[in-house]
Amino acid sequence: MDKMWAGRFEKALDKQADDFNSSIHFDSKMYKQDIRGSMEHALMLCTCGILTKEEYEKITEGLTSILDDLNTGVLSFDMDAEDIHMFVEAELTKRIGDYGKKLHTARSRNDQVALDLRLYMRDEANKIISLLKDLVVVIKDKAKDNQDAIMPGYTHLQRAQPITFAQHLLAYCMMFLRDITRLQDALRRMNFSPLGSCALAGTTYPTNRDMVAKNLGFDGVCMNSIDGVSDRDYCIELEGAFSTIMMHLSRFSEEIILWSSWEFKFVELDDSYTTGSSIMPQKKNPDMAELVRGKTGRVYGDLMATLTMLKGIPLAYNKDMQEDKEAIFDATETVIKCLQVFIPMVKTMTPIKENMYKAAGKGFINATDLADYLTKKGLPFRSAYKIVGTIVGECIKKDITLEQMELSAYRVHSDLFDEDLYNEISLEACVAKRISKGSTGYESVKEQIAYVEEQLK
Ligand code: ARG
Repeated sequence: MDKMWAGRFEKALDKQADDFNSSIHFDSKMYKQDIRGSMEHALMLCTCGILTKEEYEKITEGLTSILDDLNTGVLSFDMDAEDIHMFVEAELTKRIGDYGKKLHTARSRNDQVALDLRLYMRDEANKIISLLKDLVVVIKDKAKDNQDAIMPGYTHLQRAQPITFAQHLLAYCMMFLRDITRLQDALRRMNFSPLGSCALAGTTYPTNRDMVAKNLGFDGVCMNSIDGVSDRDYCIELEGAFSTIMMHLSRFSEEIILWSSWEFKFVELDDSYTTGSSIMPQKKNPDMAELVRGKTGRVYGDLMATLTMLKGIPLAYNKDMQEDKEAIFDATETVIKCLQVFIPMVKTMTPIKENMYKAAGKGFINATDLADYLTKKGLPFRSAYKIVGTIVGECIKKDITLEQMELSAYRVHSDLFDEDLYNEISLEACVAKRISKGSTGYESVKEQIAYVEEQLK
């Protein structure tokens, strides 16, 4: 097939070079956005007197039939086409003849592709926001059901202080809520129409860019035509936000993997989200969580690829920019696929409260509370800290817990110790006494659940 631009050339493009140059195998994904943009462009051209009513109607008819035929599979993409824009235009001309050749007036593929990708990514980002909301609901509900489940909280993966499983889960709600706002911020900044920037310098036709922008749901137009066709900041912002989502999913996955090991056994994953081994009959592997953790790297890679692709190219459009799409499509698809599996995996995950509680009983995680006990009786915190440290050392030697140590043994270290100390260091008391805002205390957890529910509205 002759190229659209063949006139200037004496020889056809080399076959391998042609394949190398072509983007139809990935940008065909944007056919709906491409056709929608063309429809609005044609409407504007007609309204501005650049196309006649008849021309406009023919073009709309043609584009509508192409859209229908692509949707129903009657028409398939021509893989010899250079890209989706060339494909639709060629198909249109095939269907309506010379009318089709008028559509590209006052437009270039440079602003066309910039428009298509913004429209496409706006939809995808909204899909991801909606999935993130589902995820937050699932985690929040799990937290709601586990407000009484005491487990060890960790620092350095060493048992640190008693917390509730609810408090731990709610930490992830906060992260994913922030991820939602990160996407919303990016959406707000990217929601301007590049169409009408044309190749780079604008056009001599009396177009109305604002009209097209408004009809396509944008908040305005890109104010500089060179920027309009050169800007891929929004891809980087979205990939940055996607990377952060993946990082959060990966951290959570890592914990789920640890928790479902025999060493922890804090949770049991549902059979439908685990796999067996081909050789070890006893195995139940958390493959989904591991894959989410594993796929995080490729999303980071997509971000790096886009940043690197852009860093050295002069204004305005360069073919390098065609590389934006595979990266952002891959990142988008990865995030969506991960969320689609992660959400039901968390929903069907069963916490094993007894094991959490048992683990919380070990590791002297109430030692801070014992120091606080002495401090509340008037001892400076540092002195209390030192005394409790000595007591912990003694307990380790005797292989007993703080609860098992006799009052007389406590009194050797300080006569501030009394019978009431045992109430103060029970795991339940350690949690209940935490009254600061945001803490693991029962009231605070309720407040956090209400906060999350409010944010989801
Ligand atoms: N397929 C191209 C891309 O994705 C479309 C824009 C081509 N523009 C050009 N002047 N060659 O970037």
